[in-house]
Amino acid sequence: MTSILDGKALSQLIQQRIGERVAQHCQTGGRKPGLAVVLVGDDPASQVYVRNKRLACERVGFASFHHELPASISEPELLALVERLNRDDTVDGILVQLPLPQHINPDVVINHIDSAKDVDGFHASNVGRLVLRQPGLRPCTPRGVMTLLQHHGVSTRGKRAVVVGASNIVGRPMSLELLLDGATVTTCHRFTKDLERHVRSAEVLVVAVGNRSVVNADWIQPGCVVVDVGLHRLEDGTLCGDLDHDIADQRASWITPVPGGVGPMTVTTLMMNTLEAAGLHLDAPCEVDQVVNG
Ligand code: GUN
Repeated sequence: MTSILDGKALSQLIQQRIGERVAQHCQTGGRKPGLAVVLVGDDPASQVYVRNKRLACERVGFASFHHELPASISEPELLALVERLNRDDTVDGILVQLPLPQHINPDVVINHIDSAKDVDGFHASNVGRLVLRQPGLRPCTPRGVMTLLQHHGVSTRGKRAVVVGASNIVGRPMSLELLLDGATVTTCHRFTKDLERHVRSAEVLVVAVGNRSVVNADWIQPGCVVVDVGLHRLEDGTLCGDLDHDIADQRASWITPVPGGVGPMTVTTLMMNTLEAAGLHLDAPCEVDQVVNG
């Protein structure tokens, strides 16, 4: 029997708790946590992602500051905006949506963000903290996946975990999160030889390649815990992941649906990170708090 790792339901639960925490904070004279989102250019996918982040801010009662800039903006001009946001006391979190136009170096921009406001967890200092097992702001998608697994009582300790994809946004930090949780981790990428052998060995499989033709769902071993980070829109308008779920769903013990698995958890973890960057935490003891603060 395959069980569903329901990211949509858990997101609703956590966002409700964040909303209650913010309301309580504001009732006692506190300031709303503030998230600044910077969008450069007019990439349609980025516009959708940014809109979802703004709507989530509204739901949980955060102030959201939206900065939409033309693709022609220079790197110094963008750095000047980041500088202003770093100094703005009403802004607790700063997110610069990626990808940026070719003429702007994303590493320079990300490392210009005050690491205490880096709610994406992409700053070299925050990635270093994750590597070194020190507390810090952690990348949203991998942290969201771990929250989802832990909420459903799925431990990866001692398991053979295989991550397919090695991007800075998902694959690399995902491998670090699994290592932190005690898994034995293999990270596969474009130079990996015999991907099939690695995938067949996985007790926990995370697929984050952004391509539907890389991992064959027939390779998944029965009982595997499967996390599909991909999101694609087919010609008929339906959304799907990197895996063929007709097959993967038959083999997995646990699986993330697409949509409704990893995607909502990414946005919700951004809200968690912003809450924490504002110095707030979910403090009433409940199952969700133990998961997200534990
Ligand atoms: N582009 C795709 N995913 C992300 C993300 O999580 N954060 C940012 N800043 N840009 C992205």
